Amino acid sequence: MRTDVRPVLSCALPRPRGPLSAAVVTLLRDGVPPSADVTGADPFGADLAVALHTCYELHYQGFRDVDPDWEWSPELLAFRRELERVFESALRAAVPAGDDVAAVFDELLVEPVPGAGVSHFLRDHGEWWQFREYVVHRSVYHHKEADPHALVIPRLSGRAKAALVAVEFDEFGGGHADRVHAQLYRDLMAATDLDSGYLSYFDRVPAPVIAVVNMMSLFGLHRRLRAAMVGHFAAAEITTAPSAARIVKAIERLGGGPDVTHFFAEHVEADAVHEQVLRNDVVGDLLDREPELAADVVFGVRATEFLEARFGEHVLTAWQEGRTSLSAS
Ligand SMILES: [Fe+2]
Ligand SMILES: [Fe+2]
Repeated sequence: MRTDVRPVLSCALPRPRGPLSAAVVTLLRDGVPPSADVTGADPFGADLAVALHTCYELHYQGFRDVDPDWEWSPELLAFRRELERVFESALRAAVPAGDDVAAVFDELLVEPVPGAGVSHFLRDHGEWWQFREYVVHRSVYHHKEADPHALVIPRLSGRAKAALVAVEFDEFGGGHADRVHAQLYRDLMAATDLDSGYLSYFDRVPAPVIAVVNMMSLFGLHRRLRAAMVGHFAAAEITTAPSAARIVKAIERLGGGPDVTHFFAEHVEADAVHEQVLRNDVVGDLLDREPELAADVVFGVRATEFLEARFGEHVLTAWQEGRTSLSAS
């Protein structure tokens, strides 16, 4: 099912999920400066995830009825910085440090526990409602697919820049609005009878999914984290092609047609190419120029693995207990 390629890309402010997210929402809605204490906040909890995501969204499509000038408000940016410090230091503490880039990429190709991921579950046992939940979770990223990665373009040069832009050109439809991957995702949502509106399910999506998108924005918006961003991008491309292939199998087993498989089928082929370009041309060239950034590439890869594993655990635990993996709205 094709959806309008000129959708309205803005949404309402999110439902606060604790004092930090309430502080950001109140600031944007009423102009009241945030006084919530960030110290001691759960770095991977829903409250901090929603607070940070709301700050970041001002750099993407913004919110209906929120003045776009808030994007560069010193008050908002100072609060965001505190949230980012908590999130980034927890991410660094959660993953092993290292600088062997080739080894971490090779590890990604070997599955630690074969068959234990969400896409494996969907392929082998998933039901239609579970597949639709998966589509809802991922919509938080795919509605802005490849946008966070575009933020790194001005921070690269030479072959790394040229190659990353070549991948982004594909993600953004190669010059065709109807082939922009975010648009293919809206079409997928329409084909599965879901609301394809921009971030329409945000309030139902749990913290682990939001944290993945926040990581991308954090890496994209800070030049010092450019190597973490390309490490993350390469990791995502390496793991997407096999997981998209499993989702295609799940959809076919469940009787979904080509309008449902299209988005995933597109990623099976494209990402096998993107993986090589990211690994060899983007990461390779960046590290030829700035070898001291190897540890940050490793950090980007491992942070991605860590947050994706948390997402998988959240979803599979809920499904194995026979309940929804979405949050109550
Ligand atoms: Fe894509
Ligand atoms: Fe891709």
